[in-house]
Amino acid sequence: MSIKDEVKKCELLYEGKAKKVYSTDCADYVIVSYKDDATALDGLKKGTITGKGSINNRMSNYLMQKLEEHGIRTHYVRELSDRETVVKKVSIVPLEVIIRNISAGSFSKKYGVEEGIVFDEPTIEFSYKNDALHDPMLNQYHAIALKLATKEEIAEIKETAFKINEILKKFFADIGVKLVDFKLEFGKLPDGTIVLADEISPDTCRFWDAETNEKLDKDRFRRDLGGTEQAYEEMMSRVFSDKENK
Ligand code: TMP
Ligand code: ASP
Repeated sequence: MSIKDEVKKCELLYEGKAKKVYSTDCADYVIVSYKDDATALDGLKKGTITGKGSINNRMSNYLMQKLEEHGIRTHYVRELSDRETVVKKVSIVPLEVIIRNISAGSFSKKYGVEEGIVFDEPTIEFSYKNDALHDPMLNQYHAIALKLATKEEIAEIKETAFKINEILKKFFADIGVKLVDFKLEFGKLPDGTIVLADEISPDTCRFWDAETNEKLDKDRFRRDLGGTEQAYEEMMSRVFSDKENK
């Protein structure tokens, strides 16, 4: 089936904290539907960020297309509506891949350092995507031992994640935003090809205004700072100002 053909939504396959995934009449594709629901602190804190589903859907699709232009393979196929996107059906590699450019969040807490230290080199870390175990951090040897991915797959994921960081860091710097840290997930196509999956949004990245360091991401919700919807809208308008200027 060509991507221009109509893809019909069939049954709900999975409902996560922020998205639903539906099967389609095409075995290679699924439809992702983004919700306004937000959770934090391992699901303990629940709420709604009005308009988030639409912003995350459109921003993530835009960024994935940018990455594709730079030769990064992603799951993105086609935006269907404000909240819904056709993506390639993948089997998710059960690793959260976190890149950090500046200290913040769990890094600052774990290692007892203030937020805002700019690293000489970006860091990478992995968590085992497993809610029952609360997504424990692990290293690449643990991931191989647990057969979450092969050595070769991990090498490719690491190289791709650092490459994505370089592309996104520059993209966000151009719209006055520091890319502090972010989380990626990768999936495998039936032929074994690894592609970037999940989303890139203010839910999964830390964005600070380049001048003021104002937080423009989900930390506003996690930390009860107020102005969460406005921060998501601000990020959306900056990202799409780039689109309009191109
Ligand atoms: P952390 O400092 O809490 O470990 O978060 C690092 C980055 O990963 C931050 O940009 C938020 C993102 N993240 C997720 O997308 N999902 C998660 O479940 C967690 C814990 C973090
Ligand atoms: N979404 C995750 C949770 O619900 C964590 C986070 O983004 O802070 O626990």
